[in-house]
Amino acid sequence: MELVTDTFSALGSGVVSLNGAAGEAVMVGLDTLVTLLSPDSVIQLVLILLGLVLLTYLLLCLVYHSVRGLYTFTLPWLLSLVTKPRIAEKFGAWAVVTGAAQGIGREYALALARHGLNVILVSRNKQELENVANEIRDTHKVDTATIVADLSDADNIGKIVKKVKALNHEIGVVVNNVGMMGPGYNNMADMEKKAVKEIITVNVLPLTMFCHAFLPDMAKRGKGAIINISSVAGLVPVPYLAVYSATQHYISALTQAIAQEYSGLGVVIQEVDPGQVDSVSSKCMMSGSSLLAPSPAAFVNSAIRTLGYNNRTCGYWSHSLLMTSLQSWVPSVLCSLIVWLQSRRQYRLAHPAQPPVPTPAPAAAQKPPPPPVQQKPAAPVPAVQEKK
Ligand SMILES: NC(=O)c1ccc[n+]([C@@H]2O[C@H](COP(=O)([O-])OP(=O)(O)OC[C@H]3O[C@@H](n4cnc5c(N)ncnc54)[C@H](OP(=O)(O)O)[C@@H]3O)[C@@H](O)[C@H]2O)c1
Repeated sequence: MELVTDTFSALGSGVVSLNGAAGEAVMVGLDTLVTLLSPDSVIQLVLILLGLVLLTYLLLCLVYHSVRGLYTFTLPWLLSLVTKPRIAEKFGAWAVVTGAAQGIGREYALALARHGLNVILVSRNKQELENVANEIRDTHKVDTATIVADLSDADNIGKIVKKVKALNHEIGVVVNNVGMMGPGYNNMADMEKKAVKEIITVNVLPLTMFCHAFLPDMAKRGKGAIINISSVAGLVPVPYLAVYSATQHYISALTQAIAQEYSGLGVVIQEVDPGQVDSVSSKCMMSGSSLLAPSPAAFVNSAIRTLGYNNRTCGYWSHSLLMTSLQSWVPSVLCSLIVWLQSRRQYRLAHPAQPPVPTPAPAAAQKPPPPPVQQKPAAPVPAVQEKK
């Protein structure tokens, strides 16, 4: 600082000797600057105070997120070493899991059965569902029921709800897991119309209607849990996965809103936002290490332990660490830039020959001119007869 002030003083003297009156004015200006930058100036004091406030804020954030992380992941893990979480007693005897034939859904069904819950499994593939149901019954000695249905057909959703209710079981846990990413990284307009509709229907409708159907009974009983599987793509907008990302934002908003509506009624409503999990649907992504892309079993073993500890979690420690760092420490503009660059990389891997820019619609000028329209004589308008 002294070096800076000395330099300004020397500069000032030089200017005065060179230009007389004009130099005097510059000298006054430089003197003012020197005063402002001197160690006991008000500006410096304000800057120091602002720095201290920022540092305190960042330290508090660090402490808050560390405590939250320990409470979400470490505490339940430590407790699970000495005692088994009593999920069936706490929430109810039966669970419904959608998309239960493979991946995350299958592992949730197995994990809930391991905790003593009977499970109703919903998916399209009858054989795969039967295989999971048999494995659950043989390994965990609980009851199962299977419902084979395509959830991309909106009419099936109400039928499934009816079937589940007709079983007359106490539904304690609903895992709204079914979801699809569609054709992977793509420009939105390059996607088939059918695929766009299917992603919206499968990702949004069953989850919404299942919450609508099962929450009131849970609230009446004063116990139950709804686990809505969303994605990190629901926390930040992801280019080239626009429709998928938008549906995950919907899940996130719905879950947070109903969690507030039903708070204090004994029902746990949890949003789980996985990063990459090494399942069939994530094959279109760049393969990460098992640290960042755990197996569905490793992911669910971690995520299910967070039930009742955190109502909004990525479910896996490395995904949470990454997202918390991105959202808390990195300015949002930079965060969006990182996500965009990463998505563009994924797009280029998926379409090596195509530039990642939307295909422009053909310009009107390039279209052949429409044929001249022949003017027809106007058809007589039929008279409307009033009936008496
Ligand atoms: N894997 C990831 O990296 C990742 C990351 C973030 C979020 N997620 C979310 O996690 C959830 C599960 O993902 P996953 O990776 O486990 O998926 P997955 O391995 O592809 O499994 C999807 C499950 O849903 C069923 N399913 C798919 N379409 C269906 C339909 N139209 N009707 C009925 N069932 C249908 C599938 O069984 P059938 O084929 O037999 O029907 C399967 O059991 C999804 O909501 C996804 O968005 C996954």
